[in-house]
Amino acid sequence: MKTQVVIIGGGPSGLLLSQLLDLAGVDSVVLERKSRDYVLSRIRAGVLEQGLTDLLRKAQVSTRMDAEGKIHDGFCLAFGGQTLRIDLKRLTGGKTVMVYGQTELTRDLYEARDALNGTILHEVEDVVLHDLKSASPSVSFLHAGERQRIACDFIAGCDGFHGVSCTSIPAEVRTEYEKTFPFGWLGVLSRTRPVDDELIYARSPEGFALCSMRSDTLSRYYVQCPLSDSAENWSDDRFWNTLSRRIPAHIAARLETGPSIEKSIAPLRSFISEPMRFGQLFLAGDAAHIVPPTGAKGLNLAASDIFYLSTALIDFYQSGSNAGLQTYSQTALSRVWKASRFSWFMTELLHDFSQTDRFGDRMQDAQLDYLVGSEALQTSIAENYAGLPY
Ligand code: APR
Ligand code: PHB
Repeated sequence: MKTQVVIIGGGPSGLLLSQLLDLAGVDSVVLERKSRDYVLSRIRAGVLEQGLTDLLRKAQVSTRMDAEGKIHDGFCLAFGGQTLRIDLKRLTGGKTVMVYGQTELTRDLYEARDALNGTILHEVEDVVLHDLKSASPSVSFLHAGERQRIACDFIAGCDGFHGVSCTSIPAEVRTEYEKTFPFGWLGVLSRTRPVDDELIYARSPEGFALCSMRSDTLSRYYVQCPLSDSAENWSDDRFWNTLSRRIPAHIAARLETGPSIEKSIAPLRSFISEPMRFGQLFLAGDAAHIVPPTGAKGLNLAASDIFYLSTALIDFYQSGSNAGLQTYSQTALSRVWKASRFSWFMTELLHDFSQTDRFGDRMQDAQLDYLVGSEALQTSIAENYAGLPY
């Protein structure tokens, strides 16, 4: 088999890349380790920057998002018994975000690929990347019991944090930067009315909590929990009681509770692997970087990578120019580091570190006190949350 670009990973990064390439006449094959049902059962984040929504419109996958997604003009920070609204629209001169679940977005991308007869091989195993430094690399894998090999011009490593692409770059040319946080988030999805029209990020003496949503009838909530904890330790009652204590009383008073549909714990980490290119291999999305979810940046960073990478590849095929490919790693990483900074800042600002860092705890008080009186800091938070320009 032969194609122009082999894309490893059928998550949002890989699917969006294959769709954008296809619309520009560039062929690709997507290799995905899991089944489609499995990929579509993963509950992930749901706040999309305008850069991402614009890219989805360009990729012709925005019909359902534009009909069902909700534009948010702002979000709320809650701490010390008060709430502070970050007015995204006013502070950024008109920018907003879209609330639309990543799972729905992934479903839309699969449908769009099907409509254009895109090739996606599911349940591939033992993917190996070959000859990355040559002009004719290839990818081999097991599919339906048979070993196969696809020759190509380029390989896009879109296979997430546990993929093979990142570690196919030799250790001597790769640098990893990592910070793990000493806690996780317990997330709950429930068929209940969201407690508010906008997202609420709450700091409390007992720990962080986030009130988010997927629709008018579907809520997504999170509470900070110990890393060693397990979801089985959390009955629905325990979860709702904990969440209620961590958000302001007047908001907790209108919290609608109900059975959880999904409950899971995720660790919080920052991770960046440099460079994002090695020979003909280009990394994008979670394969190259992870951010803690507090800034809602994971999916949005995947989108900016795919914007730069698709533009560079299309430019190469349409005009023979190497320029975008040459600068891809540097351009993508510049935005990745800034979004990582913001995600780290929001994580440090709102979580409870008091067990290990009493000084840091007082710094949070000072930072939040400063934030209340400083439109400059509010503006900085707003422009980062709404998304830095591509
Ligand atoms: N071979 C083929 N596919 C693989 C392999 C492999 N060796 N390893 C992993 N995969 C697949 C995974 O099963 C997954 O479907 O690659 C896909 C990667 O998808 P994601 O993890 O969703 O990563 P990405 O597409 O970059 O999406 C951006 O931003 O922070 C996040 O939650 C957010 O998942 C979102 C991500
Ligand atoms: C979510 O809705 O899952 C969500 C929203 C905002 C975040 C993280 C997660 O910062």
